[in-house]
Amino acid sequence: MTDPISTTRHGDVLIVTSNNPPVNALGAAVRQGLVAAIEQAEQDDSVKAVVIACEGQTFFAGADITEFGKPPVMPWLPAVVDAIENCSKPVVAAIHGTAFGGGLEVALGCHYRVALPGAKLGVPEVKLGLLPGAGGTQRLPRVAGVERALEMCATGTPISGKEAFDCGLVDRLIEGELVPHAVGYAEEVRDIRPLPKSSEREERLAEARDNPALFDEFRKANARKFRGFEAPEANIRAVGVALDKPYSEGVIEERKLFMELMSGNQARAQQYFFFAERKAAKIEGLPEGTAPREVKRVGVIGAGTMGGGISMNFLSAGIPVTIVEMNQEALDRGAGVMRKNYEASAAKGKLSAEQVEKATRLLNPTLDFDELAQCDLIIEAVYEDMDVKKEIFGRLDRIAKPGAILASNTSYLNVDEIAASISRPQDVLGMHFFSPANIMKLLEIVRGAKTAPDALMTAMQLAKRIRKVAVVAGVCHGFIGNRMLMPRQVEATKLLLEGASPEQIDRVHVEFGMPMGPFQMADLAGVDIGWHRDVSRVENIRDALCAIDRWGQKKGAGFYDYDDKRRPSPSPVVKAIIEDFATKQGVERREISDQEIVERTLYTMVNEGAKILEEGMAQRASDVDVVWVYGYGWPVYRGGPMFWADSEGLDTIVEGLKRQEARMGSDFSFSKLLLDKAGKGEKFTR
Ligand code: 3HC
Repeated sequence: MTDPISTTRHGDVLIVTSNNPPVNALGAAVRQGLVAAIEQAEQDDSVKAVVIACEGQTFFAGADITEFGKPPVMPWLPAVVDAIENCSKPVVAAIHGTAFGGGLEVALGCHYRVALPGAKLGVPEVKLGLLPGAGGTQRLPRVAGVERALEMCATGTPISGKEAFDCGLVDRLIEGELVPHAVGYAEEVRDIRPLPKSSEREERLAEARDNPALFDEFRKANARKFRGFEAPEANIRAVGVALDKPYSEGVIEERKLFMELMSGNQARAQQYFFFAERKAAKIEGLPEGTAPREVKRVGVIGAGTMGGGISMNFLSAGIPVTIVEMNQEALDRGAGVMRKNYEASAAKGKLSAEQVEKATRLLNPTLDFDELAQCDLIIEAVYEDMDVKKEIFGRLDRIAKPGAILASNTSYLNVDEIAASISRPQDVLGMHFFSPANIMKLLEIVRGAKTAPDALMTAMQLAKRIRKVAVVAGVCHGFIGNRMLMPRQVEATKLLLEGASPEQIDRVHVEFGMPMGPFQMADLAGVDIGWHRDVSRVENIRDALCAIDRWGQKKGAGFYDYDDKRRPSPSPVVKAIIEDFATKQGVERREISDQEIVERTLYTMVNEGAKILEEGMAQRASDVDVVWVYGYGWPVYRGGPMFWADSEGLDTIVEGLKRQEARMGSDFSFSKLLLDKAGKGEKFTR
């Protein structure tokens, strides 16, 4: 056997065990070991059945992604799966944790599958820009049914052991110890012949042939989700092949589609992003031996939309929350909204009634600020006003327990200034949640000049507990995400004056893959955000819109007009306002090309990202990408702004910016790092 694979005997059952931490990825040594173990079973007459199981936290979680792009080492995975399926003795997969990707394909090669009810089974290759490439697209529909396979392959969403049992993917659910039960199962089936081979099963395919509209309906239902992505369609086609062609031809087609995806830019970007996300959790420069502080109870100040959303994250993770408001009405309203949100999740089947009940029980709403004294982490989520925040932190300084972490959910304000106003700056940091805070995955953790390493580590680890993707940011205006939004906003607004329409600018962003463009976003968030609220002071287009009540979708009008179903249409009023401003400011209007919009709104973001890196406000370029993918919907198939810039070529970005430099005027200055890297032919992310 190879190192990660070992075998033991239990009676006439050969138990093949993988021990390849952290996730039993199917690297070369594992693949070699599995083939050798099957050979051992074949050659030993006393072996009557085989169980394949894994040690550690999970069954095989997939192919080893670090091997992608490197010269292949034999045996390749499809051959391993075939070797298992062709074994003349029954092979049982014993599944716990996550049987993902190639891991599920190994399980499908086995003749039987048993699993713990809490196990997860899935083919997340689509999230890496791929499809299951070891026979998965052909075997899964034959075993779990075409509809289920379509959903699993094209969305990458896993199913539970219980669901897998219900759809026939798992043959038995195991309560109790997995491997002994799997051995018992192997003994039960040891003499059954012929062996059930997934690749030979036909009955589930027949069901789907009765419903030819299935594929197009599925495409239609998911059109929004799949927009811009190549891999979902390839997955759909591959599963379709299972219906149209025999297995032997289906796997050839699957391989062809797999190789096409693998050599494409989207797969490269999505695989890069997989590691970027995991790298983001790593904090640079932590002293050796730093240990996190214990967090048993969290305090939240402010029960508005943000405070409520923030609280829900902790409650859902089983962490008690004390939430404080100034008056009973606001407190009741906040608690009511949280309850409603939970009930809505329960109605959609995302949470059980029991989970809702448990989360609600963990909430302690109070008007008594002093109750925050019991909390180990306190997050202030009131409105953006430095004086108000300092006043709150002053009160916290007096009452919080020693070592409690004091966090501000500010989007822009200077965390160092807040920290300097109290006696324990080492305990202060920023926790910038994105709205809606109970849903958005991103969390910027702002590291102040004096933030203690263990406070930072605690916040980062807590983020993982509440299932957020956290990125460390330095103290600067807007941190990483909102800071990069600013040049985009400035240039987009100037482009309006120079001749572009909101529709054109938004279309360019949507075609690029963003969920919406800058003006659609403004209408959604509220054009009035940050407005001075003085209708007589009209200094720019936004002031003009706010002055006539065009505050965005909530008022039925903003940069666009909206009908009663909130469908937007171009607004002649807005057009007139823009033209009027252009005349007053002496801006000559001209035809604006889509390319100019890209250069002035997206290239400038890259430039700002480079400045953030150059100033040390982000730990690494990939963190900037994580912020933009998870915080603002940058298309993951383009990797994020910094990866995208690398793919375009930094010299291309610099040339584009130089072309626009005169038009952008004093609003723009080059990042030295960008110029330097472009000059040397270097990249940000590789
Ligand atoms: N290959 C290589 N390394 C992997 C890996 C894989 N498939 N999956 C996870 N890892 C690494 C991570 O990079 C991380 O490394 P680090 O500690 O150095 O940062 C470590 O394992 C732990 O991973 P997580 O932090 O993600 O651990 P979690 O416990 O949060 O999650 C998991 C575990 C659910 C298994 C998650 O890691 C995951 O979803 N992994 C990817 C699964 C996947 O995409 N499988 C399909 C691969 S493609 C394939 O199989 C092609 C085939 O069809 C031919």
